[in-house]
Amino acid sequence: MKIILAITGSSGVIYGIRLLEELRNRKVDVTLILSEAGKKVVELETDYAINKLYALSSEHYSEFEYISPVISGSYKIDGMVICPCSMKTVSAIANGYSANVISRAAECCLKEGRPLIIVFRETPLSLIHLRNLTSLKEAGACIMPAAPGFYHKPESINDLINFIVGRIMDQLNIENNIYYRWGVRSD
Ligand SMILES: Cc1cc2nc3c(=O)[nH]c(=O)nc-3n(C[C@H](O)[C@H](O)[C@H](O)COP(=O)(O)O)c2cc1C
Repeated sequence: MKIILAITGSSGVIYGIRLLEELRNRKVDVTLILSEAGKKVVELETDYAINKLYALSSEHYSEFEYISPVISGSYKIDGMVICPCSMKTVSAIANGYSANVISRAAECCLKEGRPLIIVFRETPLSLIHLRNLTSLKEAGACIMPAAPGFYHKPESINDLINFIVGRIMDQLNIENNIYYRWGVRSD
C-alpha cells in the first residue's frame, strides 16, 4: 500500500506525525510532503526534527518540487491524507488553485478518483471555510474534523491523538486497534 501524507501549517501536526509512525509500523509506503508552514508548526508544537520525519517516510518532497512524480495522476497511490490541513490548503484544493505540490497531488487524487482525506483542526469556521469544505466533499474528498470523541474516557493526550489517527486509518481500510470502538471489547 502506498499513501501520500501531507502535513501543512495548521495546529495539530502531531496527528500527522503519529499517523506517519503508525503507517510506518504497518509497512505502508509513505510519500511525505511537508509545506514550509507545516515545518514551522512542527518546530513550534513538537520536539520532532524534520529529518526524523523524513527518515520515517519512503520518499519525501518539498512543496516546491514542481517536477516531482507526485504532481502527476500517473503517480500510483492508494490515497492521500492531508493531516492537519490548513484552511489555506483547503481553499487551494477546493478552487483548483494548485500552486504547490500538495494541492496539485490532491487535485490528481480527485481527478483520478482516488481517496483524498482532509483532516482539519480549524475552529470556528467561517462561511468561506464551510463552502470550501463542502466543495471538497462534493468533489469526493473525505472531510474529517480533528475532533476526538470522549466516550472512551481518554486519560492522556495520546488517547485523543490515537482516536483521530485510528479513524483516519479506518478510512484507509488499514487494520488497527489503537482506539476504543464504541461497544466493542478490545481484549
Ligand atoms: C502555530 C500556528 C498554528 C496555526 N494553526 C492553523 C490552523 O489551525 N488552521 C489554519 O488554517 N491555519 C493555521 N495557521 C496558519 C497557517 O500556517 C497559514 O495559513 C499558512 O499559510 C498555511 O500554509 P500551508 O497550507 O501551505 O501549510 C497556523 C500558523 C501557526 C504559526
